[in-house]
Amino acid sequence: MYMLSPEGIVNSWNAGAQRFKGYTAEEIIGQHFSKFYPAEDQESGKPSRALRIAAEQGKYEEEGWRVHKNGRRFWASVVLDPIRDDAGQLIGFAKITRDVTERRQAQEALRASEERFRLLVQGVTDYAIYMLSPSGQVTNWNQGAQRIKGYTENEVLGTSFSRFYTPEDQEAGIPAAALRKAADDGRTEMEGWRVRKDGTRFWAHVIIDAIRNDMGDLIGFAKITRDITERMETARALEQAREALFQAQKMDAIGKLTGGIAHDFNNLLAVIVSGLERLKSRPDDAPNPKVLASMERAANRASSLTEQLLAFARKQPLKRERHNLNELLRTFDPVLQQVTDRTVRVHFNLAATLGEVMVDATQFEVAILNLMTNSRDAMPKGGNLTVSTEEVILRPGEIPSLPAGRYAKVTVSDDGDGMTAEVAARAFEPFFTTKPVGEGTGMGLSQVFGFVKQSDGDLTIHSAPGQGTSISVYLPVDNSLESGKAE
Ligand SMILES: Nc1ncnc2c1ncn2[C@@H]1O[C@H](COP(=O)(O)OP(=O)(O)OP(=O)(O)O)[C@@H](O)[C@H]1O
Ligand SMILES: [Mg+2]
Repeated sequence: MYMLSPEGIVNSWNAGAQRFKGYTAEEIIGQHFSKFYPAEDQESGKPSRALRIAAEQGKYEEEGWRVHKNGRRFWASVVLDPIRDDAGQLIGFAKITRDVTERRQAQEALRASEERFRLLVQGVTDYAIYMLSPSGQVTNWNQGAQRIKGYTENEVLGTSFSRFYTPEDQEAGIPAAALRKAADDGRTEMEGWRVRKDGTRFWAHVIIDAIRNDMGDLIGFAKITRDITERMETARALEQAREALFQAQKMDAIGKLTGGIAHDFNNLLAVIVSGLERLKSRPDDAPNPKVLASMERAANRASSLTEQLLAFARKQPLKRERHNLNELLRTFDPVLQQVTDRTVRVHFNLAATLGEVMVDATQFEVAILNLMTNSRDAMPKGGNLTVSTEEVILRPGEIPSLPAGRYAKVTVSDDGDGMTAEVAARAFEPFFTTKPVGEGTGMGLSQVFGFVKQSDGDLTIHSAPGQGTSISVYLPVDNSLESGKAE
């Protein structure tokens, strides 16, 4: 703060002035104040203009560059007041100068950062990013918004964002509800149909954030919209393809099954029909016992085929009783040993304790026989066949079809040929066999499958070509009475 004569000569000087401008009082008193202006301002007569304006208008205010004694410029806020005596005669000026360089720098930085941010948001084209007033009027608009929604900034500023919604959604009050939810929860996220300027629809993923000032007042909303139509359509197409594939596989399997049944029954019926014909053609002779025997065999075979089919369909009558599978396996042992020839070594690896399960003992034996026969067939040059038992506790989802809990697990494994993934995937289908015609019916594993499923269990199959095969049967431990009989 210092004083000037009416002509602009410095005639008082304070400590603050010395600090800002670098001059001591001795150095500057008596000098013209234009010294503080940059050369170009001095040339254009800016200092005397300032005095004139102050004298005429009673005050002069400006912000501008000033020069320190050391030559450094600083940005100053300047107020110049004329001082008059009682008669109104101008006797000088009071000058207050503030160094506002820092404030100016801060403003500049803020402006630059806002500009950078604006450019960033503006440059994003994959997302519509824009702001809404608290009542839902669009207050700015980026390129992405223009690209996705089709409106230019001019068309859309100041209009309600509800125009982007379908008429149904507008009717149902969805836009306002979305803002309410964002205001209440701070943010809302949703997917839905939105409408472009040209009337076409797109599937949008939308996030609305409520924007509040430091006082917590709602000052608007930030909205980010992404067009995910393509992603949604890809997902839908994939789902359809999967469905179609599943359908095709199902039809294929049903075709195989029907064909298999028709073929087998046809052969068996042919034997019976031709037998009947022979009997009919000689009504007076005693029936040929050979013909009768072959007819009977065919009929029995047909009936056992029906049983196997019923087993697969999980429709066979089961006599379920409480059994310890270890004990069942021990009683079957003589039969099981016969399955294999001398080149195959059979190992039993039975758990010390095993919870009891509700099974049909005969069907269980048939299932184990089927599994062991398959293993033997897979080891034409001999090998090891292991039957093991174990009690396990399944976690939820560990085997998707089974609830969590205690299970008796029986595993039949071999170090034979193994299966390709394709064979393993179809091995349980009735009539599916890789064995030469006449050797396998393809009914073995389908019996195992049907029996296990009908006994509330499930099975897993681990196999790879050359790596052997291991098939495990899980049957739920019966908790109804005393459980887990120790042996
Ligand atoms: N332990 C195994 N090792 C390798 N392949 C196996 C094994 N078990 C089953 N398979 C494959 O699964 C197919 C189907 O087995 P499944 O027991 O249902 O019928 P099959 O043994 O061919 O005939 P069937 O049991 O009626 O005599 C077999 O043909 C074979 O390709
Ligand atoms: Mg078999």
